[in-house]
Amino acid sequence: MRILITGTSQGIGKAIAKLFLEKGHTVIGIDRQAASIDHSAYTHYQCDIRDKESLPEIQNVEILVNNAGTQNEDDIDINLKGLIYMTERYGIQPAIKSVLHVGSASGHTGAEFPEYCASKGGVLAYTKNVAMRIAPFGATCNSLDPGGVLTPLNACVIEDPKLWAEIMEETPLKRWAAPEEIAEWSYFLTVTNTFCTGQNILVDGGESINYNFVWKE
Ligand SMILES: NC(=O)c1ccc[n+]([C@@H]2O[C@H](COP(=O)([O-])OP(=O)(O)OC[C@H]3O[C@@H](n4cnc5c(N)ncnc54)[C@H](O)[C@@H]3O)[C@@H](O)[C@H]2O)c1
Repeated sequence: MRILITGTSQGIGKAIAKLFLEKGHTVIGIDRQAASIDHSAYTHYQCDIRDKESLPEIQNVEILVNNAGTQNEDDIDINLKGLIYMTERYGIQPAIKSVLHVGSASGHTGAEFPEYCASKGGVLAYTKNVAMRIAPFGATCNSLDPGGVLTPLNACVIEDPKLWAEIMEETPLKRWAAPEEIAEWSYFLTVTNTFCTGQNILVDGGESINYNFVWKE
């Protein structure tokens, strides 16, 4: 199949692109950084998803994975508005089989930075809007909403032993996900899955169900 993925130069997007390539698909990547994947079935466009005019001509996308994102840098413009441009341009058309939006657990909980969680909350609602609009094509649209993932985006806390210990206290499964794990979920939701649509799927090691039960001894 013909897969379009954003944010393929590092982190989760790179792992997703590599998994689809391993499975024999044709992958087109868009990232504001240069390509970091060298494969005969991979085409890279270096552009910013905020810049509607610079988005390339690409026809008949079958799977769209909107992964590119940031935190504390124009989050609503990149994580939400850029994602919307991408989906409206490449996802709402008859060849589409599945659209996946990479959201975040913070879109469910309201945790993390204000503009970041608001951008991801918008992604959760927009996912349902798209699911209804592409259902006539027999296509699905879901969001995949990770908790902590071991990527360069989080280097500042992963590399700080004190902060890392505090984070592990908050994480029931006592680890963060590898980007490859998130890639497996992306593949499942877009290729294996054909009937779950309009859903916001949390994959967060239990972070969002962490609670303190207060009761009389
Ligand atoms: N890492 C985590 O813990 C985590 C948790 C929940 C959700 N997410 C989400 O997963 C997605 C990927 O995160 P990551 O951790 O792999 O981040 P990352 O910073 O490692 O990689 C993001 C990629 O997106 C690209 N990108 C960013 N803004 C862009 C733009 N405007 N135009 C084109 N490309 C752009 C970057 O160049 C980079 O290659 C993001 O949407 C992020 O919010 C990450």
